[in-house]
Amino acid sequence: MPGVTDRVVVVTGAGGGLGREYAMLLAREGALVVVNDLGGARDGSGAGSTMADSVVAEIREAGGTAVANYDSVATEEGAAALIKTAIDEFGAVHGVVNNAGILRDGAFHKMSTDNWESVQRVHLWGGYHVTRAAWPHFREQRHGRVVVATSTSGLYGNFGQANYGAAKLGLVGLVNTLAVEGAKYNILANAVAPLAATRMTEDIAPPEFLEKLPPAQVAPVIGYLVSDECTDTATVLVVGGGSVKRVAQFESAGVYFSEPPTIDGVAEKWSEITDLTGATLGKNPLG
Ligand code: NAI
Repeated sequence: MPGVTDRVVVVTGAGGGLGREYAMLLAREGALVVVNDLGGARDGSGAGSTMADSVVAEIREAGGTAVANYDSVATEEGAAALIKTAIDEFGAVHGVVNNAGILRDGAFHKMSTDNWESVQRVHLWGGYHVTRAAWPHFREQRHGRVVVATSTSGLYGNFGQANYGAAKLGLVGLVNTLAVEGAKYNILANAVAPLAATRMTEDIAPPEFLEKLPPAQVAPVIGYLVSDECTDTATVLVVGGGSVKRVAQFESAGVYFSEPPTIDGVAEKWSEITDLTGATLGKNPLG
């Protein structure tokens, strides 16, 4: 059976919300799942084993295979211990879903360095640490699947989420390079910006909007991205409420200046520079 059967997948932050749904679906489809969760509050304070344990219990009751891990993805040691759990319990790691996250919202003029840093630590550094710890295994077995949770707040911006948006778009930057470096080892790296009703969004959007966004609508796309069937890499998707869409960066035809223009020269051509008519998918001219 292809798909995710017998694939060992680590889902971070899987003790609730979207991560729980991802872990349950993967286990239902035959994956061996490491359910990681630090078990703290939405702002990252506190810790505990109850959240991860209860999801593992649910998976086992449904006949699936899972093991709990309570390490923080925000540290190198925590991520190393997490990947070690996969190796010790199941003998391999085939995929990581970097889903763990916290929120410390606040307008930028009130942003504290602590709120900036703790959000970067969990989302961006967490994605780095966990993927970095799994990477040698992926290369060695010539198979790996990386999924990161990005956000429309990073892709498009959102009031009060400068720290979060920066971390979330940082993860897209990470995925773009992992896709390049992983290509010859059959390592794929993709990003999903979910839209779902969880504790993270419960007071951000109105209830009538949230009730149309069950986390179960997002999980199958994560399942596909970690499956053997998937061949796509460096793809960014926005997924929620039944819709699955691709987001990409485009470059305008732009303007060519044979000599450095004056500022006025740039101003004169500005509408032509920024006109996206006939824009093409962007790619790195240095890559
Ligand atoms: P959630 O708060 O239910 O899930 C996040 C989980 O991560 C929690 O269970 C939490 O305990 C865990 N966690 C936090 N810090 C951790 C750490 N250091 N180590 C291990 N686990 C840790 O929220 P939700 O909505 O399920 O979020 C999942 C991911 O999706 C997050 O990365 C979030 O930023 C992202 N996302 C969610 C959106 C939504 O509409 N719900 C929108 C855009 C992005």
